Amino acid sequence: MVEKQINLRSFETEDIKELHRWSNDPASILMVGRTPQTFEQVEKHVEKKRQNGDVLFAVENEENKLIGWVFLQNIEHEHGRAGIGILLAPEARGQGYGKYVMEKAIDIGFNQFRLNKIYLTTRGINKQAISLYEKIGFVVEGKLRKHAYVDGSYYDTYFMGILRSEWEQRNNEID
Ligand SMILES: CC(C)(COP(=O)(O)OP(=O)(O)OC[C@H]1O[C@@H](n2cnc3c(N)ncnc32)[C@H](O)[C@@H]1OP(=O)(O)O)[C@@H](O)C(=O)NCCC(=O)NCCS
Repeated sequence: MVEKQINLRSFETEDIKELHRWSNDPASILMVGRTPQTFEQVEKHVEKKRQNGDVLFAVENEENKLIGWVFLQNIEHEHGRAGIGILLAPEARGQGYGKYVMEKAIDIGFNQFRLNKIYLTTRGINKQAISLYEKIGFVVEGKLRKHAYVDGSYYDTYFMGILRSEWEQRNNEID
């Protein structure tokens, strides 16, 4: 896979229009899922995240085109931990961008926010996401049984995490 040059910048209010589009594509609804969202609902979702102190990044590709967002959420400095989330534009998926986006955001989490652990949850049905997270070094710490109802079936939700020590060790091995 060709290396991707992506850039993270602050997620701006004017980016919400695109987030609304990405959030409503069928795969997003299945994998991240909610029911389809109105623009106002997406706006409120972003506002709630800002009020929660979540750090929101817009992702730009090599041509400075907006192709997704990634965020650190529920940052708890007393525990040195935060959650992470990612959503790429439908046309940017399946090309290897996810790895570079996650790596940049994780790097900010560990090296700028001085976190000790970054975690996420994902649906067991989301094989692409699980494969990506494992490739980056996330470990499945637990499975919530039949936690999500998707398209007529119940699926486990995976809780996955990566520690700063694991991230550093992994980067040392790559260097
Ligand atoms: C999930 C998401 C972030 C992945 O990013 P991406 O850049 O599209 O990921 P890639 O296409 O590089 O796939 C990652 C890996 O999964 C593998 N993969 C893809 N589909 C797969 C499948 N059905 N089963 C198993 N592995 C799969 C790919 O081969 C790749 O591994 P490789 O690099 O070793 O080949 C992105 O597709 C996305 O935003 N999806 C919609 C929203 C979403 O699901 N967000 C995550 C919620 S937890």
